[in-house]
Amino acid sequence: MTVKNSRVVVLGGTSGIGLATAQAVAEAGASVVVASSRQSSVDRALSVLPPGAEGLVLDVGDSAALRDFFTAVGPFDHLVYTAGENLALMRLEDYDIHAARTFFDLRFFSALEAAHLAVPHLNAGGSITFTSGSAAFRPGAGWMLGAAVSATAIAVTKALAIELAPIRVNAIAPGVVRSPLWDSMSIQDQMAMYAGLAASLPLGRVAEVTDVAKSFVYVMDQDYTTGTVTVIDGGSVLV
Ligand SMILES: NC(=O)c1ccc[n+]([C@@H]2O[C@H](COP(=O)([O-])OP(=O)(O)OC[C@H]3O[C@@H](n4cnc5c(N)ncnc54)[C@H](OP(=O)(O)O)[C@@H]3O)[C@@H](O)[C@H]2O)c1
Repeated sequence: MTVKNSRVVVLGGTSGIGLATAQAVAEAGASVVVASSRQSSVDRALSVLPPGAEGLVLDVGDSAALRDFFTAVGPFDHLVYTAGENLALMRLEDYDIHAARTFFDLRFFSALEAAHLAVPHLNAGGSITFTSGSAAFRPGAGWMLGAAVSATAIAVTKALAIELAPIRVNAIAPGVVRSPLWDSMSIQDQMAMYAGLAASLPLGRVAEVTDVAKSFVYVMDQDYTTGTVTVIDGGSVLV
């Protein structure tokens, strides 16, 4: 099922990469449902999405709420999972097992739970797209959790592409993206990070959320791709 005239659900679709993906699929002729944990995020997203877009409050960590969500949404074609919270950079010397588990809860266990509960509602020709990260391939110091969860997303993508076929399962692996994910840093620190990275990247800039959204749309639309990981990183893995 290509994107035009499809129904797309974006968990984490009220901000950043997920919201840009929701906007892109809506522009491509899909109907879209976005969900995230805060009503204020849902309201803000609906104020920028085209009329007809739906928004629901959902904490993806709550399995019962996830189940009810998919029952309420009904049949749909494409699941996109972009839910995430501020990145926990952590070196091994600072390892905190509770923080590590929390990090995996939202990005890994809840992503799998969402896929598990969504599949019965996916129409024939449907797809699932997970979020990984280029840290799976080129982590810096302090990125062990981001690298690990990004690598697990890729492993799960490949395993489920086999298990769920002909439902297609893909992953998108962005490098650093200018998004609200970094809002726990001061504006000055964000600008310094973006500028420093841009100077080191072959393409000379960090990604915008719209750059990454194009990749999500591509793998949903390209109905002969499954089990793939699309790295969208300005060339960071090469340098
Ligand atoms: N930005 C980057 O540089 C970058 C790079 C590589 C990978 N990624 C990954 O890409 C994903 C999206 O990142 P982003 O930059 O788009 O971040 P973002 O702008 O902060 O968006 C994260 C979204 O997740 C939602 N969310 C958080 N906790 C949730 C929960 N418990 N249940 C439901 N929704 C929840 C947030 O809404 P609420 O607050 O309303 O819940 C928000 O809509 C993340 O997994 C991130 O790790 C990002």
